[in-house]
Amino acid sequence: MTTASTPSPLPTTRTDADPLRLIDVDHLRFYVGNAKQAAFFYASTFGFTVDQVADLTTGSRDEANYLLTQGNIRLILTSGLSHDHEANEHVKRYGDGVRAIAFTVDDAEAAFNQAIKNGAEAAFEPQTHSDNDGAITQASIKVYGRVIHTFVSRTGKYSLDTVRNGGLISPSFRKVENFALNEYNKANPCGLMYVDHCVGNVELGKMDYWVKWYQEVLGFKLFKHFDDKDISTEYSALMSKVMDCGYGVIKFPINEPAEGKRKSQIQEYLDWHDDTPGVQHVAFRTDDELESVAQLHRRGVDFLYVPKDYYGDVWQRVDAMLREHGHEPVKEDHDRIKELGILVDADDEGYLLQLFTKPLQDRPTLFFEIICRRGSQSFGKGNFKALFESLELEQDRRGNL
Ligand code: FE2
Repeated sequence: MTTASTPSPLPTTRTDADPLRLIDVDHLRFYVGNAKQAAFFYASTFGFTVDQVADLTTGSRDEANYLLTQGNIRLILTSGLSHDHEANEHVKRYGDGVRAIAFTVDDAEAAFNQAIKNGAEAAFEPQTHSDNDGAITQASIKVYGRVIHTFVSRTGKYSLDTVRNGGLISPSFRKVENFALNEYNKANPCGLMYVDHCVGNVELGKMDYWVKWYQEVLGFKLFKHFDDKDISTEYSALMSKVMDCGYGVIKFPINEPAEGKRKSQIQEYLDWHDDTPGVQHVAFRTDDELESVAQLHRRGVDFLYVPKDYYGDVWQRVDAMLREHGHEPVKEDHDRIKELGILVDADDEGYLLQLFTKPLQDRPTLFFEIICRRGSQSFGKGNFKALFESLELEQDRRGNL
């Protein structure tokens, strides 16, 4: 994406020799209370394939892992099998949620060493698992709160290309056979393609600390956009800055609470997350928002309610922006967008369609976003006002206002 209007230039200092050059989002690891049951939930509601497992049947004595895949998305759901497993401690304190955002790199050990040199704190030292056909090396650094970044490098039959085509993600896994929902999901795809962005909620006053951390440790840039000033309004009750790796692999918006009309949605998250920062939402990219959202609705996904009057002026607002910057109007069926309750926003580069789920567990913490970009690279700031009413209603129902 290198259009003249893009104010986020591709960095010129990065080369293939840079150990921190990220190749892809390798996987997201969730710590959950019951991985077997969680696998069913994400398969039936979001259409993920339950593809591989590492548990007692594969000789994993201390934890159970399920690899769920869809498009280029890989989720690993992990539960501890003993009381002192780290996952159980996490679930006790924070509930289910994202533990690791893992990146494929050329050399995980070199990436880890460089990150440590740049000021990161180690979470897990480099470790290699191999068999006769290949190897996978992983090493992790601490990020905010409960979250770590894991660097993963792969060789032989564990290479990223092979994994993308259904190969084993690591030597400890085996393929899942005869999982009935997998057939249903193949016939009824949800169209989720890859992780677009992951949003972190951090404590009051800590946003700029983590902005600096991403700059210094991972070489990310502050994503500058024409409407991307600090967001601090009575409607959003949050401040947010976006960190960008600079070449399309991933962006990390970082939120901190702000004064609003009522309690900030970020503060509600922290209150129910043991006062600890964590991943607020993961956004999955689709190329057909209407089809994806319709399919997810049919599967019972609980989406945020969009206030009825939202569609009163949305087309005027969006079309005016698109016209001003010489872009085509929104091509998707307007009535169908309204029917499905999808949100629309536009900026100088185009428009986006997005929709947010309600929390994925009983605690008001992690949720998903389903996003489709038609040129726009921003995050739907124009929808904050509309969403505020909906979020406030939900917070009120939970007794958290
Ligand atoms: Fe988002």
